[in-house]
Amino acid sequence: MSDVSNKQEFPLKGDRGSKVVIELQDVRREFHVGSEVVKALRGVSFKIHEGEFVTIMGTSGSGKSTLLNQLGCLDTPTSGEYILDGVPVRKMRRSERAVLRNRKIGFIFQNYNLLAKTTAVENVELPLMYNKTYNARQRREAAVKALQAVGLGDRLDHKSNQMSGGQMQRVAIARALVNNPAVILADEATGNLDTRTSFEILVLFQELHRQGRTIIFVTHNPEIAQYSSRNIMLRDGKIREDKLNPNILDARDALAALPKTNDD
Ligand SMILES: Nc1ncnc2c1ncn2[C@@H]1O[C@H](COP(=O)(O)OP(=O)(O)OP(=O)(O)O)[C@@H](O)[C@H]1O
Ligand SMILES: [Mg+2]
Repeated sequence: MSDVSNKQEFPLKGDRGSKVVIELQDVRREFHVGSEVVKALRGVSFKIHEGEFVTIMGTSGSGKSTLLNQLGCLDTPTSGEYILDGVPVRKMRRSERAVLRNRKIGFIFQNYNLLAKTTAVENVELPLMYNKTYNARQRREAAVKALQAVGLGDRLDHKSNQMSGGQMQRVAIARALVNNPAVILADEATGNLDTRTSFEILVLFQELHRQGRTIIFVTHNPEIAQYSSRNIMLRDGKIREDKLNPNILDARDALAALPKTNDD
């Protein structure tokens, strides 16, 4: 294994020594539409280790969202096995799967999916409502802490419609983090943001990566793959390429190189 320990400032995480958080074994997903069968996933297998920052790329229709829905337990495969944090998901009951989804997975979407007219802190508290180990005070504390961690300590009581796109995405990231999930799943999380804000969010994802979080980030944008530790390319529902990134770029450098005002 290469020695990256001297890179204090930006250690490369996600080496193959750590524990496996996600394992897919020959996962297939078919959709029946009328008399036609769409094979959205045609046998996908991989392992993702704790601390990896994986980008999933591929053209439109290649199966990225279908794959992310499997990983997020939002959909079940037609065949194949999914093992999340050591637990085979297929064998679980629906209610068990809902709990698993709530505790183990943090979702971030392109359009933020925040409740409108609801404050940042209330949005972030939401996933904890389903977690009986938290009382109201603990919920509030955890939400405030998560918002502070994404740099929104001064926007706790702002409602969704009183914030910029980048701020809303930060709230969504805080909400994804608040339950301390095993995995963070993002589908085009920077898709609606301008260049500068995209890099600010990417800086945040890299910070999470540096802290040892496991991140799976679906994107159309090949540039983003340069900031992740591994890239999986899909084509026609199959893995075409699965590569570790030996030279992870630092989004802070890209951000610093951008002009201060953005006139995109
Ligand atoms: N619920 C569904 N019913 C029928 N077909 C579906 C369904 N969901 C996805 N598909 C089909 O499965 C294939 C993969 O779709 P998917 O949404 O995973 O692609 P994607 O890679 O996320 O594309 P995009 O980049 O456009 O978001 C497509 O051919 C799509 O039409
Ligand atoms: Mg998609």
